[in-house]
Amino acid sequence: MFLIRKFMPRDFKQVISIEEEAFRDHDKFLYMKLYEMNSEGFLVAEMDGVVVGFAVGMLISKFEGRIFSIAVDKKNRMQGVATSLIKELLNNFRKNGVIIVRLEVRKSNLIAQELYQKLGFNIVDTIHRYYYDGESALIMRKIIDR
Ligand SMILES: CC(C)(COP(=O)(O)OP(=O)(O)OC[C@H]1O[C@@H](n2cnc3c(N)ncnc32)[C@H](O)[C@@H]1OP(=O)(O)O)[C@@H](O)C(=O)NCCC(=O)NCCS
Repeated sequence: MFLIRKFMPRDFKQVISIEEEAFRDHDKFLYMKLYEMNSEGFLVAEMDGVVVGFAVGMLISKFEGRIFSIAVDKKNRMQGVATSLIKELLNNFRKNGVIIVRLEVRKSNLIAQELYQKLGFNIVDTIHRYYYDGESALIMRKIIDR
């Protein structure tokens, strides 16, 4: 079993190691900044005292939220960790009056697209050459139920 809670500075090392495993274009200083700017939107999943996943969401305007990043360590995938992290971000957005949530996902990342689709996100646009390696991003969006 896992629990979802707010990120604490002592989780930093574990979050960065999940991030390094998950993304080609990782950037640990970015995560420090994200925490400083936005500690409320930084969540982790913990299993037996170990951080196994994280998600970062942020308000980008009064009514719009953005899911900036999410990853789960390889050993603990396909157990609903990402689903729970996103549901918690969506609950927090809802409490804050957010109406629309958006995110970007690599065109090739079919696993993440399926995850988001299951949670009610739809593809609304493409940004060509969005990532540093030239890959395009799909923009996905969800209207929050009140
Ligand atoms: C994408 C990611 C966060 C999913 O985490 P997870 O905890 O394994 O996801 P969940 O267990 O909540 O899975 C939810 C749904 O996603 C889809 N999914 C997850 N892993 C999958 C896989 N290996 N193959 C196919 N579909 C998969 C399924 O539809 C699944 O629903 P189901 O359990 O009913 O089959 C994880 O694979 C990861 O960290 N990937 C690398 C980082 C990344 O791509 N982040 C997203 C950037 S936009």
